[in-house]
Amino acid sequence: MIWFLKRFPLLLLIGLMALIMSNCTMLGLNYASLETDNKPLPEPPLKATSFAENSAPRTALKRAFEDTLYGPWPEGMPVSHGAWRVVDADYLAGRGTLEEIEITVGSGPGARSFHLVTAFPKAAQAGPLVISQTFSGNCDVFPGSLVTASDGGICDGPEMTGIVGFLATRIFGTYIAQAPVSRYFDAGLAYASFYASELVPDRNGEAQSVMAGMGGPVNPTSALMAWAYGFSAALEVLEADPRIDANRTALMGHSRHGKSALIAGVWDRRVDALIAHQSGFAGASLSRSETGEGLVRMAKSYPHWLAPTVRLYLDDLSSLPVEQHELLALLGPTPVLLGNGRSDVWSDPNSSYRAAQAASEVYEMAGAKGLTDTGMRSFDPDAGLAFWMRPGGHSVVSEDIDAFTAFLAAHLGQPAIRESAVQTADCPVSSSIITKVGGAKCP
Ligand code: GCU
Repeated sequence: MIWFLKRFPLLLLIGLMALIMSNCTMLGLNYASLETDNKPLPEPPLKATSFAENSAPRTALKRAFEDTLYGPWPEGMPVSHGAWRVVDADYLAGRGTLEEIEITVGSGPGARSFHLVTAFPKAAQAGPLVISQTFSGNCDVFPGSLVTASDGGICDGPEMTGIVGFLATRIFGTYIAQAPVSRYFDAGLAYASFYASELVPDRNGEAQSVMAGMGGPVNPTSALMAWAYGFSAALEVLEADPRIDANRTALMGHSRHGKSALIAGVWDRRVDALIAHQSGFAGASLSRSETGEGLVRMAKSYPHWLAPTVRLYLDDLSSLPVEQHELLALLGPTPVLLGNGRSDVWSDPNSSYRAAQAASEVYEMAGAKGLTDTGMRSFDPDAGLAFWMRPGGHSVVSEDIDAFTAFLAAHLGQPAIRESAVQTADCPVSSSIITKVGGAKCP
């Protein structure tokens, strides 16, 4: 006993160290491997010809994703909306207007409504748009603006404040909640955003009962699919707006909302470009990969994100009939940017890169530029399948916004807009990334 008491502080320290070391990946203390040649190719190999738009194999593969991971796309679920409310006619010192619209998805008493806030730049012509889906309420995304809060009232300041807000932005980046709208305006883009939990709450149990009651001809059975449909509903409303060029619309999401953005791009082919930042498992990372979080852990920690059918495959992932390079291939040739952080091993950048490598052929076959296959650290915003990796962890930081706007300008903007976005992009803080946004070399 005395022996134990004497050594207690040392044992405690060893225990703590072991705990920290076993969670290094989760805590962002490891680095993603940059080697891909020594790792398995995604299975099954793709047949690029199977991905032609509206082809039978494409339809069958989408069906397989529905039957196993995501549940049905809620085809035909009614979407209706109110009128735009001008929140700020003189937004960002008169550069644009900030407006809000309430969108309802579904029918009957279980229909769900959410507030879509949009910053329209003042422009003579209809322009490009990016729609983002967020973790936090609109008060945090547009701090200081009189948008509708999650409780239905009008915001009186951000909700994520004090020590929680401070820590969240330190850990997850300056732009984890707040939207840098002026930078999207600089790139010539309108910026729209909604809080995914307003549509379907991000809570196990509650999410499933909300989805079951939505009153569609087909209801979603996974939150990821429901949020993807939210993207589609927002797109429907904004594509009908004369200020938006319906041929230049993009979706954007971080992490779980990167997963739902990828799904939305497959099932709603109106999307013209897409950013999935650190989407991880059930997103761009390979389900059979054993690095990082892993599909099994994700499905068990967040049972409402995926359809209940996923449980049939969790004991043996090799039996899963779909793999995520096939999801990326289904997106082709829509331009897609996959954002990554070198220390965000949790979301497994390495297997995302291998998935993109495998899907690239589908882009090339459709006449688009595939992945510029010069390694995980080079970034080509012009690529149809673009891969962005910076130092750091699971977060949304200033360099990410530079990469996003360069990619969007390359695919949705005029060349002049693209050039200005590229010129404002700085070199990443660490020399471990060798290519500057826009392709130039960093010192
Ligand atoms: C958790 C989860 C990830 C997810 C992330 C996020 O970390 O394990 O799969 O991508 O949350 O949405 O931020």
